[in-house]
Amino acid sequence: MDTSIKEAPEYYRCASEDELFLLGERLASRLTPQTTVLLKGTLGAGKTLLVRGMMSYFGVSPGMVASPSFAIVHDYPASIPIKHLDLYRITDLDSWYQLGIEEELGRALLLIEWPQLIEAEIPSPKVEISITIEADNARKVAVVWS
Ligand SMILES: Nc1ncnc2c1ncn2[C@@H]1O[C@H](COP(=O)(O)OP(=O)(O)OP(=O)(O)O)[C@@H](O)[C@H]1O
Ligand SMILES: [Mg+2]
Repeated sequence: MDTSIKEAPEYYRCASEDELFLLGERLASRLTPQTTVLLKGTLGAGKTLLVRGMMSYFGVSPGMVASPSFAIVHDYPASIPIKHLDLYRITDLDSWYQLGIEEELGRALLLIEWPQLIEAEIPSPKVEISITIEADNARKVAVVWS
C-alpha cells in the first residue's frame, strides 16, 4: 500500500527546449540525494532534456547526458551521487531486481525514465513528472511531490 502523502500537482508549460531545460534546473534545486524522480511521457516528450537541465544544476555539462537506453544506467560526475536510468527495455520485475539498483533507493538521486513497471516499489521521497506534448509542440509538465 502506498501510504505517502501527495502534494497537489504543479503544472508548467514549456514552449521551447530552452524552457524545459530551465525547468529542469529549477526543479533540481529542490531535489536531495534521497529523492527518486519518475519521468513519464511518450517517446520524444522531453524526459532526457529535463534530466539535462537537472544535471546542469549539479555541475554536469548537458553534452554528457544521453538517454541510457542501451546501458540502462548512467552515472555522472555530479556534486551529489546521481544515477540516470531508462527502463524502456525492462519488461519484468525480475530484470529490475537483477540490476541491483533498488539498493540505491534513498542513497542516490535516481532519475528514472519509463518507470511505470517499478513505480509501486519506489518509496518516498519521490517526485512524479509527467510530460505531455501539446498541439503546438509545447510541453505540459505535471509535477507531484510525495
Ligand atoms: N517545447 C519543447 N520542449 C522540449 N522538447 C521539445 C520541444 N519541442 C520539440 N522538442 C524536441 O523533443 C525532443 C525531446 O527528446 P528527449 O530525448 O528529451 O525525449 P525523451 O522523453 O527522453 O524520449 P525517450 O522516451 O525516447 O527517451 C527533442 O528532440 C527536442 O528537440
Ligand atoms: Mg530519454
